[in-house]
Amino acid sequence: MPTPAEQPATLLSVEHLTVEYRIAGRRVRAVDGVDLTVRAGEIVALVGESGSGKSTLAHAVLGALPRGAAILGGRIDFDGQDLTRLSERRFNRVRGRALGFIPQDPMVSLNPLHRVGRQVAEPIRIHRPVPRREADRRAVALLERVGLPDAGIRARQFPHELSGGMRQRTLIAAALTGGPKLLIADEPTTALDVTVQKVILDDLAALARAGGIAVLIITHDLAVAGDRADSIAVLRKGRIVEYGPPDDVLRRPAHPYTQLLLRSAPGLAPPRPGRRRPARPRCRRPAPPPAGPGAGGRDGTTGAARRGDRGGQGVPPARRGRRPALVPRGRRRVADRGPGRKPRPGR
Ligand SMILES: Nc1ncnc2c1ncn2[C@@H]1O[C@H](COP(=O)(O)OP(=O)(O)OP(=O)(O)O)[C@@H](O)[C@H]1O
Ligand SMILES: [Mg+2]
Repeated sequence: MPTPAEQPATLLSVEHLTVEYRIAGRRVRAVDGVDLTVRAGEIVALVGESGSGKSTLAHAVLGALPRGAAILGGRIDFDGQDLTRLSERRFNRVRGRALGFIPQDPMVSLNPLHRVGRQVAEPIRIHRPVPRREADRRAVALLERVGLPDAGIRARQFPHELSGGMRQRTLIAAALTGGPKLLIADEPTTALDVTVQKVILDDLAALARAGGIAVLIITHDLAVAGDRADSIAVLRKGRIVEYGPPDDVLRRPAHPYTQLLLRSAPGLAPPRPGRRRPARPRCRRPAPPPAGPGAGGRDGTTGAARRGDRGGQGVPPARRGRRPALVPRGRRRVADRGPGRKPRPGR
């Protein structure tokens, strides 16, 4: 672990970010006072149940919140500027260049009528005025770099002629065209077969590390996070409850919600010394399961959304609306679980 003096510079710093949606006169607080840091070249995984606000956080950083959503407070500092204060014109100079995005579904994100090479060459020409032939040549080189086999031939094909994994690689190539310092990948492989997912994620992580590109990867999958990220941030109902290195967060989860997430991913249940099977995590309050009935999604149907509250189930009324305090614990930070409960020293 590098000392603070050796740590790479902070590239993205999200501070106290709060985002709300307004649906039919009601407000849904999707992101509630989030602090998050991504350093240059770092891979950070954002995990949490469906409806916990992962995509909303990503869209806020990308300046791509839908109509009806508003940033109510906080800052998003990226590469030396507060993105929440940029005009659309200036934001366009950041998005797609220093800030790249890998979307979830290649079939939706690729134009079925254009050859895949062109869909990588076009953004190259948007970023820099280069002749079409040169852009085509660079597009093929990028497609090769992201591991597309026979890139020169594939570049002349249409999206439907490629496999799902090849299409996802094309989107990764398109996200690299602006020479990004940070890539945001929202569930980039969920549309793919698990074995293909693993290969593509490994390749993406290797590519990012080789190029010194930071990645904010959003995933439901704790194994994905644990295998590839330098840091994991666990989001619950718009708030980060635990944030630190995978070794700490996944092997010794400190927050009851992280423990519950791990219980739903049995292969990752934290080992306890001297026990043959992982112990059941101690959880003082009942909390909702990580997914299932009542868990929300893009349709605004979480229990919290329906009630319009901020705290969610299991949180005493007195604590609702209080900003969560992330308390340092060893190398990580964990949400304060309330009065009378002192954080244990870091392990
Ligand atoms: N366009 C929208 N309009 C209204 N509410 C929305 C919109 N998008 C998301 N929400 C609500 O905001 C909250 C956070 O949703 P978000 O999509 O950010 O969660 P998520 O963690 O990305 O979930 P998933 O894992 O299912 O993609 C949820 O309550 C959701 O219903
Ligand atoms: Mg999402």
